[in-house]
Amino acid sequence: MTRMAPSTLVHLFLAASIFTQTFARLCTSPGQLRGNTYDYIVVGAGTAGNVIAARLAENGANDVLVLEAGVSNEGVLAAQVPFMGPTLTPNTPYDWNYTVTPQTHLNGRTFPFPRGRILGGSSSVNYLVHQYGSSADYDRLARITGDPGWAWRNLRRYIDRHEKFVPPADGHNTNGQYIPSLHSTRGILPKSLPGFSHGIDARVIATTQELSAEFPFNPDTGGGDVLGLGWVQSSIGDGTRSSSATTYLNSVINRRNVDVLVNAYVTKLVRTGTVGGKPSFRGVQFANGPQSPTTNVFARKEVILSAGAFGTPQILQLSGIGDRAELTTKSITTIVNNPSVGKNMSDHVLLPNNWRVQGTESLDNLLRDPVAFGAALDQWQTSKTGVLSNGVTNHLGFFRLPNNSPIFATTPDPASGPTASHWEMIVSNFWINPAVPQPATGSYLTLISALISPTSRGTLKLASNNPFQAPLIDPNFLATDFDRYAMRESVRAVKRFAGANAWSDYVIEPVGDLAAQTDEAIDAYVRSISTTVFHPVGTASMSPRNAAWGVVDPELRLKGAEGVRIVDASVWPFVPNAHTQGPVYLVAERAASIIRGY
Ligand SMILES: Cc1cc2nc3c(=O)[nH]c(=O)nc-3n(C[C@H](O)[C@H](O)[C@H](O)COP(=O)(O)OP(=O)(O)OC[C@H]3O[C@@H](n4cnc5c(N)ncnc54)[C@H](O)[C@@H]3O)c2cc1C
Ligand SMILES: *[C@@H]1O[C@H](CO)[C@@H](O)[C@H](O)[C@H]1NC(C)=O
Ligand SMILES: *[C@@H]1O[C@H](CO)[C@@H](O)[C@H](O)[C@H]1NC(C)=O
Repeated sequence: MTRMAPSTLVHLFLAASIFTQTFARLCTSPGQLRGNTYDYIVVGAGTAGNVIAARLAENGANDVLVLEAGVSNEGVLAAQVPFMGPTLTPNTPYDWNYTVTPQTHLNGRTFPFPRGRILGGSSSVNYLVHQYGSSADYDRLARITGDPGWAWRNLRRYIDRHEKFVPPADGHNTNGQYIPSLHSTRGILPKSLPGFSHGIDARVIATTQELSAEFPFNPDTGGGDVLGLGWVQSSIGDGTRSSSATTYLNSVINRRNVDVLVNAYVTKLVRTGTVGGKPSFRGVQFANGPQSPTTNVFARKEVILSAGAFGTPQILQLSGIGDRAELTTKSITTIVNNPSVGKNMSDHVLLPNNWRVQGTESLDNLLRDPVAFGAALDQWQTSKTGVLSNGVTNHLGFFRLPNNSPIFATTPDPASGPTASHWEMIVSNFWINPAVPQPATGSYLTLISALISPTSRGTLKLASNNPFQAPLIDPNFLATDFDRYAMRESVRAVKRFAGANAWSDYVIEPVGDLAAQTDEAIDAYVRSISTTVFHPVGTASMSPRNAAWGVVDPELRLKGAEGVRIVDASVWPFVPNAHTQGPVYLVAERAASIIRGY
């Protein structure tokens, strides 16, 4: 969400990116595999894929192969230093370098849509915010799918094995900053409260007191109850990023029963026969690149597709699983006609609202000054502390439009429930704006507002039958009156927040068209700089077993086929009240339980 890194910083992290091979079973070419048949083949060593791989490989009787198009995360410095996360994308060796199609409701603009292409997937390149969303999201998922197993009271138990709450990098007293009883210290993924405090932190908390009716303090936005503003929880332990690669994958990589192959770009699923009247797809074809030979591998039990919200529907369509009318135009023979593949994409819209502020306590100078940045990096390397041990925000909050908002006369409330939100605010102590580079001078405050309950739905379609051609990604942002209304009111709300007395001797003025007042002017401002929070879901949606729509059943089996499950962000039918790694991890933990049969 930021263009915070001058190119010097990019060079710095590229120079530090050395590839070491410390993994015993990390294979870099197909010749190193133990064979061509495994019990399970996991496509994509990303956030969800590594959960599946690790939980299956924990049982020594299972033989597991993991195929990943990207490179190893080992030795990639920016994938370790939390604050350098934003330098890992867009358009780097660790990104898929996707661009959205021209967005009709955003002045026809296009912009990058990053996705991790590295062990750990997007969990290795994301901005480390870690929460699960609203309990109402899970209860709604259970309602939509007809499977009570997805309800919060059942799913929350996976928090216990997933997260490992640890002290923050600066060791400060965290009393009142989270509710320990909602969390676990026994799981696999280290997470923590902010490890570096900012001067603005006290102003943020003071605002929750001063404007408590609109912006109440929430003692824990990461425990299922999201409304209000609180301290961020992040996938950080010992001042270092926790990804699915550093945790789940690392825990099994040295076992004899798992092979992990990088540089393996999956081009399609291969049909292996017919079982119970359905086509079975227990084969997977991959190649290193467009010019290299293809290899086929086979699963005795199942193929698990975990290539993410874009990779998964792309692979399905390349395999002849999708909308027959669309596949025909790409000269692909349809094996399973399912028009839901690649449809119903939803995502959080990001609007960066910037203010010019007094003094030099913002991080803007750190980002402009290679000497200051080098000193911070030295501190991180020496002690894993300091500003770089922290993410890009210390506070975020989730809010509802007032119940009497006129929009509810024409649009039913799209939130997951009365305790779920319509929009989010993220507080940052520096200039964040994907659409406008950091100014050469000045200090800034950013209050991002994000649309959390979008009613727009987008699509992912093939550009051609060439598996190496990027798919057409159309999130279709702000296509509905509700979405535009919610964004407009979020702008008014963040201005009320920044207008509190707590900021009066700090905030100088809004930057650019943030000063807009009328509906029309605010809408134009929103259209001109909105992009994505990087949370796409829904492109291979769960639905009830016999529904006429949807791509997987509530146990995540691919509909109309046999031998394939899908486990990643694409199975969420709607985007939850969360930065999506937490919801993806919980879904993957339950999926692993379902596959193992307990
Ligand atoms: C820049 C950025 C910032 C973000 N910030 C946050 C945040 O702060 N907090 C948060 O909770 N969420 C954040 N997210 C979102 C979150 O990281 C994702 O929702 C989540 O990681 C998705 O998990 P996944 O398993 O569905 O996909 P991924 O983790 O993306 O995994 C998919 C994997 O499949 C691989 N793959 C894809 N296609 C193929 C193929 N054809 N062959 C072989 N391998 C393939 C990919 O390389 C990747 O490793 C962010 C995402 C991005 C990109
Ligand atoms: C993305 O762009 C970077 C920088 O140009 C490049 O090194 C990398 O190979 C590209 N990745 C893909 C998947 O094309
Ligand atoms: C999109 O999802 C809705 C349910 O939210 C469903 O009714 C509709 O059929 C889906 N559309 C497709 C093309 O799958």
